[in-house]
Amino acid sequence: MTRPLNRRALLGTGMLAGVAACTSSPAPQPAATTTATGAPAFDPDDWESVRAQFTLDPAYGQFAAFVLAPAPAPVRAAIERHRAGLDADPHYLPGGRSPDESIRETAARFIGAAAQEIALTDSTTMGLGLLYSGLRLTRGQDVLTTEHDFLATHEGVRLLADRTGAKVRRVRLYDDPARASAGRMVEAIKEGLGPRTRVVAVTWVHSSTGVRLPIRSVADMLAEANRGRDEADRALLCVDGVHGFGAVADGMDDLGCDFMASGTHKWLFGPRGTGILWGRAWDALAPVIPGFGQASFMAWQSGEGPAETTAELATPGGYKAFEHRWAMTQAFNFQTAIGKDRVQRRTQELATRLKAGLRALPHVRLATPDSPDLSAGLVCCSIDGLEPAEAVARLHDRKVIASTTPYVPSLLRFGTSIVTSPEQVDHAIEAVKGLA
Ligand SMILES: Cc1ncc(COP(=O)(O)O)c(C=O)c1O
Repeated sequence: MTRPLNRRALLGTGMLAGVAACTSSPAPQPAATTTATGAPAFDPDDWESVRAQFTLDPAYGQFAAFVLAPAPAPVRAAIERHRAGLDADPHYLPGGRSPDESIRETAARFIGAAAQEIALTDSTTMGLGLLYSGLRLTRGQDVLTTEHDFLATHEGVRLLADRTGAKVRRVRLYDDPARASAGRMVEAIKEGLGPRTRVVAVTWVHSSTGVRLPIRSVADMLAEANRGRDEADRALLCVDGVHGFGAVADGMDDLGCDFMASGTHKWLFGPRGTGILWGRAWDALAPVIPGFGQASFMAWQSGEGPAETTAELATPGGYKAFEHRWAMTQAFNFQTAIGKDRVQRRTQELATRLKAGLRALPHVRLATPDSPDLSAGLVCCSIDGLEPAEAVARLHDRKVIASTTPYVPSLLRFGTSIVTSPEQVDHAIEAVKGLA
């Protein structure tokens, strides 16, 4: 017998509420020229006004903003508001209804999906961890991934394999990233598929090289491969989306995958420690961390487990840094106000400008493809005779903040975004020129 929870009980449980650096980059000395409340009026059509919503040090060209993303004024103001609210009254609850629900609705509008398809997480890594630690695999099913993914995917599927005994195979999608081809990448994944492959684990934009995968084409190829397979045997396309999310405008229908995990604290410039896991095949996995949603409480109190997995059940419960979680809404709204297509255009125009400038330098080897169809905002390269970490340090002296990739071999990495200007791109090119 389930008994509805009253509001006080829900509040009491928190239900209604509810880096380690993977790259190196010297910290700039921030000069806080504006405050959350003192930021100039926001005109989303004016890139200078967009940039003015951030308190980045204007002395530096910021090409590592995606690493530990700064928040724009509306996000900072929301964090401050919720922090003050919680400090004044620990029963503080914004909006009069479940904040998680309205965040999921906002996120759903942003990605063109349904709120019930979205689990709220703390990071990309947590999303992938929930996915790969929760997927149910039957005997003989296997996992396919690629050589180019980040630790979160590789370790996630290794843990999946340890738990289930499934075999994991890796395919190589390109030898020279600068010459990656969409057709060849899809073909390599197709060739790696086995008759019982249940999980295809890939990354939308490789943080090792800046290569963007043609996720839609991979999904179309898989749809063909899945034809005639039972639902429980269908190969599921699972995507680490973090370096595409907030940089590339595609929604979930455009991607056509089954699961997509992303932090909202990188290219979306949302609050740190926030993210989403979107999925359309939730019953393929079991929740890993007990949720704090209504269904979890009902199951707990009635002693009867839920009939099926839902995104809400898969959303980890426990108390959060609520002032950050609740400010996710403002991050989605900020980018929506600018326009997702405009954000993508700007990000890619700046990346194209940077690549063109770097390509002209004889001591620079670009790793990222020229084509905007095969890249996003990441631009990776090597400098003849200079270690990437040394290049980062010397660029910092020239007021350019770049980072290194946490891969072997490591590369020098730039990220163009809504916080960078064309002038800063030109200055970065000049600074790299000076590294010869
Ligand atoms: C491809 C990729 N996935 C995931 C992460 C980690 O993201 P998060 O901090 O949201 O877990 C990184 C590191 O920045 C990354 O490069």
